[in-house]
Amino acid sequence: MIGLTYFKRFRMEVELGRVLAEPVAPDGYRLIPWRPELLSAHAEAKYHSFRNGIDANVFPCLGENEGCLRLMREISQKEGFLPEATWLAVQDPVAAAPEFCGTIQGIRDRTGMGAIQNLGITPEHRGQGLGRTLMLAALAGFRSVGLRRAYLEVTAQNDSAIRLYRRLGFHKVRTVYKAVEAPSMALR
Ligand SMILES: CC(C)(COP(=O)(O)OP(=O)(O)OC[C@H]1O[C@@H](n2cnc3c(N)ncnc32)[C@H](O)[C@@H]1OP(=O)(O)O)[C@@H](O)C(=O)NCCC(=O)NCCS
Repeated sequence: MIGLTYFKRFRMEVELGRVLAEPVAPDGYRLIPWRPELLSAHAEAKYHSFRNGIDANVFPCLGENEGCLRLMREISQKEGFLPEATWLAVQDPVAAAPEFCGTIQGIRDRTGMGAIQNLGITPEHRGQGLGRTLMLAALAGFRSVGLRRAYLEVTAQNDSAIRLYRRLGFHKVRTVYKAVEAPSMALR
């Protein structure tokens, strides 16, 4: 039987004037600004970041390779898509091919606010400051095109992401519930 599951999520916002730190990538990593040829690299990083996480239940396309490609195409074709707020994190190991280990994308919404789409770091590269660096780079991108405020939505169970956003100055402004069609699952 198909039922609706509701996921509790928070909308969090930040004043862009308050974000001061420079985005400095940890040793061995670099951030690459958006260009269209990197679409599949972003999709790959997104898929490996989200496939086993809570958000793959909330947005099933995040749990599929093809779904992540589709999502990246949609995001990059949106009217307000901001290349300045869209970054790829790469590791360049000695004597090995570069590895795509994180992605963030930003758009300008219809009200003129910056909207973070998805921030994801692949599991092997977490806990070193890459998530923070990518977020700082996206926020700097919003600021560079004159935006004053930015927001994102995060699933309430995602404690580590919420901690990261709080440290960067984001605060909760409201709770929203995302309805997802699923074979009879309990209310979360
Ligand atoms: C949420 C997410 C993006 C965080 O990425 P990350 O690269 O691990 O983030 P950071 O390294 O900047 O911060 C994570 C932790 O590492 C710690 N850390 C940062 N730099 C560190 C360093 N040099 N040494 C040790 N610890 C460090 C931070 O203090 C933080 O600790 P905390 O979780 O106890 O608060 C990542 O876990 C992820 O992709 N999750 C799955 C997808 C997802 O849920 N995305 C968010 C959707 S809204």
